[in-house]
Amino acid sequence: MSFTEKANRILRFFSGHRRPKTAAVILAAGLGTRMKSVEGSTKQLLTLEGKPLFMHSVLAFDSSAYVDELVLVVRKDEYREVRRALKSYKLKKPLRLTVGGDTRQASAKRGLDAISDKMEYIAVHDAARCLITPPMIADVVTAAYANRAASAGTPVTDTVKQVSKDGYVEKTVDRSTLYRAQTPQVFECKLYRAATYVAIEKKQTVTDDNMLVELLGQTVKMVDCGSENIKVTTKEDLALARIILRAREEKMN
Ligand code: CTP
Ligand code: MG
Repeated sequence: MSFTEKANRILRFFSGHRRPKTAAVILAAGLGTRMKSVEGSTKQLLTLEGKPLFMHSVLAFDSSAYVDELVLVVRKDEYREVRRALKSYKLKKPLRLTVGGDTRQASAKRGLDAISDKMEYIAVHDAARCLITPPMIADVVTAAYANRAASAGTPVTDTVKQVSKDGYVEKTVDRSTLYRAQTPQVFECKLYRAATYVAIEKKQTVTDDNMLVELLGQTVKMVDCGSENIKVTTKEDLALARIILRAREEKMN
C-alpha cells in the first residue's frame, strides 16, 4: 500500500471522530544479560548508528501523529545517564522518565502509573525493538482504536516442530495460524489497567502485555509489521539492526 493510500485510509477512519489521546510507554529498564556487552553497559545504552539504542524508539514515537505523550522507563542506576542523553534531542512531545522494576511486567506497570490521567490509549513498546517506524506505529494504534487491543507481530515463516523433552520431533505444527508477537502492543487504558490489576490480584505472570488482556477474554487484533521489527537480544541482532538502519538511510538518499 502506498503512503498516500495509507494516509487516506487513516483519514477515512477518523472522519467525524476525535482521535483518542494516546501515550507511548517505552521499556528500557532491562539488564541485557543475553547481550553481554563488552563495554559493561546495558543494551539500551549501546550506541547504534550514532544514537543510544533506546533513542531510536523514543524518536519513532515522538514522530508519530498518533502519540500525545511519552513515558520512558529506565533502570535506577541509568536514570542520570539517560536524562543527560535526552538533553541532546529536541522532542516534540512531553516525555516523562520513570524508574522500572525487576521484571518487564513490573516495569510496564510503572510506565502505566506514569501516564497522564487524560490518556485513553496506551502503546507499550520494548526499547529493544529499535527498528520500529512511525508507519508501523500508525498501523497498530489505529487497529487498537477500532478493536480496543492490537499488537504488532509477524507471521512465522519457518516450519515449526513440536519436540519432546528428550529432543525428538513429535509433530509438525500448522504454521499458517502462527504469529510472533512484537511490540508495540496497544490497548484502551481502561482495559489495560483492569487487566493489570487482575494479574496482580491473581499473581499471574505474563510474557507480553497481550496476555494480560487475553486473560480478561478480550480479543487482540494482530497487525503484521513485517520482519524488520526485530528485538535486539544478542550481538548478532545488533549487527542485523545496524544493516537494516543503514539500508533505510541509503534508500532515503
Ligand atoms: N525490560 C524492562 N524492565 C525489566 C526487564 C526488561 O523495562 N525489568 C525491558 C527491556 O529493557 C527491553 C524489553 O523490556 O526493552 C524486553 O526485554 P528483553 O529483550 O528481555 O531485554 P533485557 O531484559 O534487557 O535482556 P535480557 O533478558 O537478555 O537480560
Ligand atoms: Mg529480559
